[in-house]
Amino acid sequence: MAVLLSMKPHLMAAWRDSLLALDPALEIRMFPDTGPAEEIEAAVCWSSHDMGELRRYPNLRLICSMGAGVDHLLRPPGPPPGIPVVRLVDVMLTTQMGEWVLLNVLRFHRQDLEYRAQQQARVWDELDAPITAERRVGILGLGALGSHAAGMIAAVGFPVSGWSRRQKSLPSVQCFAGADGLDAMLRQTDILVCLLPLTPETRGIINARLLARVPKGAFLINGARGGHVVDADLLAALDADHIAGAALDVFEPEPLPAEHPYWAHPRVIMTPHAASITIPASAAPQVVDNIRRSRGGLPLINLVDFSTGY
Ligand code: NAP
Ligand code: GLV
Repeated sequence: MAVLLSMKPHLMAAWRDSLLALDPALEIRMFPDTGPAEEIEAAVCWSSHDMGELRRYPNLRLICSMGAGVDHLLRPPGPPPGIPVVRLVDVMLTTQMGEWVLLNVLRFHRQDLEYRAQQQARVWDELDAPITAERRVGILGLGALGSHAAGMIAAVGFPVSGWSRRQKSLPSVQCFAGADGLDAMLRQTDILVCLLPLTPETRGIINARLLARVPKGAFLINGARGGHVVDADLLAALDADHIAGAALDVFEPEPLPAEHPYWAHPRVIMTPHAASITIPASAAPQVVDNIRRSRGGLPLINLVDFSTGY
């Protein structure tokens, strides 16, 4: 039986090497060289792979997302019926995302947008001293990435709150849940961070109504998915000076078209979906573990719940 890899060619080679280093007996097929369809038992794939194509493999038993998010695997037509999907929860992914969020929290907190603009204009002007203990950070999503980022930000001395579907309890984080919890958190948030999965419930959550509920002058950091943000509403809030700046790593569509207003917006900082990149050598052990579990009929780790979409 064989494992099908489908992602960018240079990544496929790295995944193949990492998987074989852990289990030399694995038979690896790199898409589109799949070999006989009935030999494929597991697929490790990313957003470029057409889920409809996976219906070709009669003995497929497991689909592994090459990243933390699974929205790309669940959108229509979705995985073949009855086939479980697992995702990555990986220390290198959580570390990178924590760094990216902290980088942008510090950028906004330390008035970096203003100082860059001043440097361009050759202006020597000291701005008011920022006070860490008074800059409140609110995080949408307290899962693997959100809870880790919350801990990193709290360790620097920022007051941190977070919002999840179910009530959580985390050290140094004021935890909120549900619709009322969201409202309460937004009212006390100076830097809003989005680390939610993209699901039917969370698509478009960062819209005019939500942005109106954070205090004037708040910042937005989105490291989750472009589909969380209603772009026209964010641009309007930026242009009205209600939102003072946005750091965006994810967009819809990707790559972001060259004519999109974000590219040249003076108060938008962009990265090309690079906040947290899967490192195959780090993530491969859980894929091998799940292949063994699948073969042995054991419970899978990091299993996606189709009813919630994450
Ligand atoms: P996760 O562990 O599944 O955590 C998701 C969190 O969101 C959980 O706290 C969950 O609440 C909360 N949540 C989900 N739906 C909600 C809702 N309707 N209302 C309130 N809270 C809700 O996911 P993760 O591993 O942290 O990853 C989060 C996302 O980051 C991924 O799905 C992916 O899209 C994105 N990502 C981006 C990059 C990048 O490079 N930009 C890299 C990796 C991941 P509960 O705790 O109550 O379940
Ligand atoms: C990247 O976006 C991921 O979901 O891992």
